[in-house]
Amino acid sequence: SKARIGVYGLGTMGSALALNFASRGIPTAVCNREIDWIAPFLQEAGPLADHLSGAETLQAFVASLETPRLILMMIPSGAPIDAMIAQMQPLLDAGDTLIDAGNADFNDTRRRSSDFAGTGLHFVGMGVSGGEEGARTGPSMMVGGSEHSWAQLRPVLEPIAAEFQGLPCVAHVGPDGAGHFVKTVHNGIEYADMQMIAEVYGLLRDHAGMPAADIGAVLAGWNDGPLSSYLIETTAKVLQTIDPETGKPLVDLIQDQAGQKGTGRWTLIEALKLGQSASTIEAAVGARAWSSAKEARVAAADVLPAGALDVVLPAPDVLAQALFAGRILAHIQGFEILRAASAEFTWALGLAEIAEIWRAGCIIRSSFLDDLAEMLRASGSEPVLLVPAVGELLTPILPALRQTVSAAMQAGLPMPAMAAALSWYDSARQARGTANLIQGQRDAFGAHGFRRVDHDGVHHGNWGA
Ligand code: 6PG
Repeated sequence: SKARIGVYGLGTMGSALALNFASRGIPTAVCNREIDWIAPFLQEAGPLADHLSGAETLQAFVASLETPRLILMMIPSGAPIDAMIAQMQPLLDAGDTLIDAGNADFNDTRRRSSDFAGTGLHFVGMGVSGGEEGARTGPSMMVGGSEHSWAQLRPVLEPIAAEFQGLPCVAHVGPDGAGHFVKTVHNGIEYADMQMIAEVYGLLRDHAGMPAADIGAVLAGWNDGPLSSYLIETTAKVLQTIDPETGKPLVDLIQDQAGQKGTGRWTLIEALKLGQSASTIEAAVGARAWSSAKEARVAAADVLPAGALDVVLPAPDVLAQALFAGRILAHIQGFEILRAASAEFTWALGLAEIAEIWRAGCIIRSSFLDDLAEMLRASGSEPVLLVPAVGELLTPILPALRQTVSAAMQAGLPMPAMAAALSWYDSARQARGTANLIQGQRDAFGAHGFRRVDHDGVHHGNWGA
């Protein structure tokens, strides 16, 4: 009998997804560029191999699938996807759907979708979050592409998805590149959240001189409160892990240079194109970029003065409240980027539904996302900051954010993402901002014109007169 879905690419994520399909009894065909990976994969699958079949050529792989076919590619983004599409396309028939389940630039996904238009074939960009464990046991999935493809995919994706209170964390979020866009913004929020946790870690390590394990214990405690989330839980574990070789906290032995594969940067680039502020995400992307300039930082540490002021470190519960406020504001920036993209690309993204499918399975899952989903369900088209429950959540914890950011600034310790969150918030709630001066400057040197508060039309000043 034929397989219901084909998984091409037996790297970490592809293998985990194929095993997840098999574990739900979904007949799954697998294929890989290096064909010698296939037999060991089937071998290691144990009893799950009953639902798996391996194919050593693309022809055999395609021929082993039920029609209309579903082929999920989990291979590196960019040129490899285009090359794979070119090889696969001649083997497919009208009604078949080809899925790119990796992290892809949604602009590429839009281009590929429009290349498929008129061929009878369907192209789906799908975001999959949750890392290896998520992919194996229940990821959160953000599906783009056509209704036709969603109708095909839904029966095989719902069984493998993470569940939140019995609801599968998978949705058809919109057409063409919408799935990859939503995944990209998920990762942007992931970057910001990780960075803010690291900023608080930095304050505790470098101002309070706290050992890693103690900071880990503080975070583990926070995980029982409003900050409860996968990232806090995981960070606590990372901080509490001891290197068996040296007996030291492993985190202290890791080089302070962060990698990035591009999703955070994509979020930022798209946010800027859409005229949205992604300042918390920019801070996180920038901090990772700066982290690689190790030599320059080491040199600067000796020569650049801090000009620091004495400051008392806020108590841990104040830091927790500050982190929670930062988390809320970073999510709101992310959701406003989604809203702007939805309007720009006429996607009709359901913001509440997106928050709902992020409540389990994905990296940013948290108790706050459950609150946010509820708030978005109850709200209309107003900016997320203006949803009344947001103000209610922020009111008691804003002083903590101010106190924490101020303490870092005074101590000379970096806190770029949390400071950006706070400044963005303060800009957003300013009824009369300072752009009147910007307009005056623009007119003074470039005669760009400005609008007056008391007259209609475009005016110019007689500057300096
Ligand atoms: C997820 C993660 C996952 C991953 C990326 C981002 O949702 O499961 O976001 O996609 O960790 O590779 O990682 P970088 O930090 O390498 O950009």
